[in-house]
Amino acid sequence: MSLYGLIGKKLSHSFSKKYFTEKFENEGLHTCKYELFELDSIAELSKLVHSKADIVGLNVTIPYKEVVIPMLDEVHEKAREIGAVNVIKVRDGKLIGFNSDYFGFKESLVNWVGASKLHALVLGTGGASKAVIAALKDLAIPYQVVSRKATRQTLSYSSLKETPQVLNSHRLIINTTPLGMLPQIDSAPDLDYSLISNNHYLYDLVYNPEVTRFLKMGQEHGAMIKNGIEMLHLQAEMSWKIWN
Ligand SMILES: NC(=O)c1ccc[n+]([C@@H]2O[C@H](COP(=O)([O-])OP(=O)(O)OC[C@H]3O[C@@H](n4cnc5c(N)ncnc54)[C@H](OP(=O)(O)O)[C@@H]3O)[C@@H](O)[C@H]2O)c1
Repeated sequence: MSLYGLIGKKLSHSFSKKYFTEKFENEGLHTCKYELFELDSIAELSKLVHSKADIVGLNVTIPYKEVVIPMLDEVHEKAREIGAVNVIKVRDGKLIGFNSDYFGFKESLVNWVGASKLHALVLGTGGASKAVIAALKDLAIPYQVVSRKATRQTLSYSSLKETPQVLNSHRLIINTTPLGMLPQIDSAPDLDYSLISNNHYLYDLVYNPEVTRFLKMGQEHGAMIKNGIEMLHLQAEMSWKIWN
C-alpha cells in the first residue's frame, strides 16, 4: 500500500482527496490511497509520519504551508525561495518539501496570456501570493503587490484608488486573497472596477465558485477572466510527479 494524504487544520471540503481517489480508480492504481489528516498543530506531523509507515507523499494546506518548513529534512530550492511548501515527499523516513502551487500558477498563466507584454498587480501577501510572485519573477513579468497595509513594497487598496493610472498600466490583475470564495461569495477585492477595460486580464486563484464576484465585475467591463481550476489541476499533477 502507498499512502498519500493532505495535512491541514480543517479539511472537510478537500479537492485533493476527490482528485487523487478518482485518479487512482481511473488509472487502476489499486495499491494507492489518499487520506485526510487534520492536525491541531504542525508539531503533530512527525508523529503522523512515524505512525503510518505507508506514507509516501503529502499535500499541505492552510495554515501549515509556511510553518511546516522547519519540520522538514530538505526543502527544494524554489520552495525555500518562496517560503512555502505544499508538497512533501517521504523517502527513507526523510521529509522533503516542494512547492507545486508555483508550477501550477506559472504554467496556467503562460497557457493563458502567452507572450503578451503585461505588468501585473498581485492582490494579497499570503502563501499563494509568494508562489505567484516567484512565477512572475521567473517569467520576467513586472509586478506590484497590493495589500490592506501599505509598506515599502506594497500599495494599499485606498492608494490604488487615488492613482488610477496604476490600474490602467497594470493589465494583469491576480487575486491571491480568499475574497469571493464560498461561502463568502459576495466579497471581492476593493478595486475601482470602472477602470477595468477590455485590455485587462483578471486571474482569480479562487476556483469555488467558478466565477467569483471579482471575475464577474471584470467580465462586465470587458476583461478576459480566468479562475484557479487549471492551476489546481496542474499543481495536483505536479505533486504526483514529485512523489513518483
Ligand atoms: N487555485 C489553486 O491551485 C490555489 C492554490 C493556492 C491557493 N489558492 C487560493 O488562494 C487563496 C489564498 O490562499 P493563501 O493560502 O495565500 O491564503 P491566506 O494566506 O489566508 O491569505 C492570502 C492573503 O489575502 C489577504 N487577505 C486575507 N483576508 C483578506 C480580506 N478579508 N480582505 C482583503 N485581503 C485579505 C491577505 O493579504 P494582506 O494582509 O496583505 O491584505 C492575506 O495574506 C485561497 O482562496 C486559496 O484557496 C488557490
